Amino acid sequence: MRTQTGTAILLEDYRPSDYQIDKVDLDFSLDAQETLVTSILSMRRAEGVAEGAPLVLHGDELELVSIAVNDTALSEDGYELSADGISINKLPASDVFTLKIVTKINPTANKKLMGLYRTSGNFCTQCEAEGFRRITYYLDRPDILSVFTVRIEGDSKTVPLLLSNGNCTDKGSLENGRHFAVWHDPHPKPAYLFALFAGDLGVLKDRFKTRSGRDVALEIYVEHGKEPRAAYAMDSLIRSMKWDEEVYGCEYDLDIFMIVAVSDFNMGAMENKGLNVFNDKYVLADPETATDQDYANIEAIIAHEYFHNWTGNRITCRDWFQLCLKEGLTVYRDHSFSADMRSAPVKRIAEVRGLRAHQFPEDAGPLAHPVRPRRYSEINNFYTSTVYEKGSEVVGMFKTIVGEEGYKRALDLYFERHDGDAATIEDFIKCFEDATGADLKQFSLWYDQAGTPNLAIETNYDEAHKRFTINIAQSLKSSVVTGNVEPMHIPVRFGLVGPQGNDLAYSGVTGADVTGDVIHVREPKHSIHFEGVEQAPVISLLRGFSAPVTIIPERADSELAFLARHDNDEFARWEALSSLAMRQLRQATHDVESGKAVKSSPELTTILHEILSDETLEPAYRALCLSLPSEANIAREIGSDINPDAIYTARSQILDDIAKECLATLQATYDKLNPAKPFVPDATSAGIRSLRNRTLGLIVRATGDVELAAKHFSNADNMTDRADALSVLALQAPDAEETALALETFRARYADNPIVMDKWFAIQAMIPGGGALERVEQLSKSESFSWENPNRVRALIGSFSVGNATGFNRADGAGYRFLCNATARLDDINPQVAARLITAMRSWRNLEKKRSDFAHEALKSLLSKEKLSRDVRDILERTLA
Ligand code: PHE
Ligand code: ZN
Repeated sequence: MRTQTGTAILLEDYRPSDYQIDKVDLDFSLDAQETLVTSILSMRRAEGVAEGAPLVLHGDELELVSIAVNDTALSEDGYELSADGISINKLPASDVFTLKIVTKINPTANKKLMGLYRTSGNFCTQCEAEGFRRITYYLDRPDILSVFTVRIEGDSKTVPLLLSNGNCTDKGSLENGRHFAVWHDPHPKPAYLFALFAGDLGVLKDRFKTRSGRDVALEIYVEHGKEPRAAYAMDSLIRSMKWDEEVYGCEYDLDIFMIVAVSDFNMGAMENKGLNVFNDKYVLADPETATDQDYANIEAIIAHEYFHNWTGNRITCRDWFQLCLKEGLTVYRDHSFSADMRSAPVKRIAEVRGLRAHQFPEDAGPLAHPVRPRRYSEINNFYTSTVYEKGSEVVGMFKTIVGEEGYKRALDLYFERHDGDAATIEDFIKCFEDATGADLKQFSLWYDQAGTPNLAIETNYDEAHKRFTINIAQSLKSSVVTGNVEPMHIPVRFGLVGPQGNDLAYSGVTGADVTGDVIHVREPKHSIHFEGVEQAPVISLLRGFSAPVTIIPERADSELAFLARHDNDEFARWEALSSLAMRQLRQATHDVESGKAVKSSPELTTILHEILSDETLEPAYRALCLSLPSEANIAREIGSDINPDAIYTARSQILDDIAKECLATLQATYDKLNPAKPFVPDATSAGIRSLRNRTLGLIVRATGDVELAAKHFSNADNMTDRADALSVLALQAPDAEETALALETFRARYADNPIVMDKWFAIQAMIPGGGALERVEQLSKSESFSWENPNRVRALIGSFSVGNATGFNRADGAGYRFLCNATARLDDINPQVAARLITAMRSWRNLEKKRSDFAHEALKSLLSKEKLSRDVRDILERTLA
């Protein structure tokens, strides 16, 4: 099985199970240390499977109390236990039989937060991907769908609330101060969607009437006293339910929908049928404690988990290789929802920034994998930006290729054809082909080939013949692609922008399929001729970021500047501006490294100045434009021999120059912007706050007026302003008295609110420079920190290693040794979170020699540790391969 190192699970080895589980009855007798789980499985041998074929059930860290087949206890020679499960070899000849299995588990000792564990004294489960096997022996694979009935029994005082999936069919009190509840979920589901929560929480209730008239009770459970802080989550849920009916025709299918917020959670949230479990930071919000970003995240994640009810639960995945079937599609759906709720172009820009910050580096490094991987040794390590975000981009490209109407028909067919199935990517693609007639064979390579394709572009205008030519060459370099790389089908949205900024017409085109405003790149090289183009155009490519590719256009700064001003696609305008800025930043980094003075281009500053002053543009868009490409993004573009200090210095100097040049306008903008009072978390007000706080940062840069930031901090009547001001103070004036005072004020005020204290940890972890490590080590000893809570670890250690390039990549390598030690320490507690933490070092090979040597040493020494989890070992082996 899988306990030896290096054993991988392969997609090509998939085989349907020999046995099905038609029905499962679970009984939990809850106890902090000794919970008894009785599972009665109605088993059915699959057709064509030989009588007596051994039945192998998964199990992990379970104590077996008893096992019986058809009510007869199995003797010890009837089964074989291993570290991974149980193999039953004495089975009746009949094709149906029942199994009764009793296991004993210790929820208090469960620090991995997979299976049944305790959080703030309550009982909670997490089963995706393979956590159910930590509760009882089972066929813990997503293609085993079963109808669950769950009885929970516990202490009436300490666990008054007993929740599971579906509808509550019975409840009552028992002797000894105990009580019970029975839940039945009529929808067959895989074990990873099972959930149980038992504890003591308050509740916020509402109702939703579905379009066919079903009256659904909505309940959000949070700590007592925090019920009002769940109001925004409830509002988001109701809007999500409505949107899914209107846009996808998806209606809710039970009489109750519950969300439980817990403080200890490995991920963001989980879509268990009818009983979503959430990391509480994605539920709780009020103006005092949540930033605009927090509100936006809550809206998006509530929607995401709710949307899974159809894309994930009603139609689930055949095996974990198909993870992107539910995740890519559901991310695409939650993106569309947020775009509809907020500003679509601003949302799109934020998505692309996220993609470039997380997915592109993943795809360019040693952890690269296809959107649908073909092998894994630990599935937990494949909940990645590639599966989620690139997976979503692929769904978006389907839509670009088949059009809005085609997309709608394909999805309708998918829901109709596969409802109740455990499906595959092939099934999904087939729906697009059958619904639209499109041939998507080449396109489907997006699921199989890792790496970010690159497009090299050359253009030429032939004045005499009024002909515009674009040469496009695609290539794909990936550290992990072995064997042949096939050319992909890349949909490129474009426009031929004329001197007045309008798109020019053309009379004919040859050299590629062009439908509407999309060029279908399919060949390694295209020479595309547009005839009848009356004026010399500037080509705008990849409008709306129509494909997750990189692009090397041969163009002058003046063309980028032109597009940044005139492209009619807002995304493309931002993109042109970013490219212009990126060129500057790379040049400046080069100058810093060779000891030259950094010069910022007047053109960039002028455009930024124009955007800042242009009140016809959305404030949120203006704010995005004012935040230049991040240090990490610059590092990725440079690609090799990276010196993070040089990047930091270069970027700071360019920002200083821009701030000084634009100071008067920045100050005028800062004074004039007036977000609505009292606080409203809507996108418009959030945009105003983000622009105003962005100008604050630049003003402080130009003037050194720390007092202004301190005032902004103390006058703040909401968390966005407070946290933004605190971060301006900490990052730009770490040693100022005002900063120390603000940090202490913040701490004193929120010491009893861990979610808010995470901001305090994160901001300090990101203070640049060599002293960061000592600061982080100190903070890790603070009373509010805990290695056992994933949110704390991510806020402090995660922010330091991912968000503090100069501090983490200290030239003496101490940052790397610290992260490796932290990973080792965490690995003994929570391997899943530990493995994620160490991915921060995946790009170590791109660093300049001295740093990469230190990083290499630290990684090797971690790998030589004796007791590493499969999770961390897998990441390390791939990172070092
Ligand atoms: N399926 C969850 C989501 O994307 C993520 C998750 C995975 C949560 C594994 C917990 C464990 O919505
Ligand atoms: Zn999801």
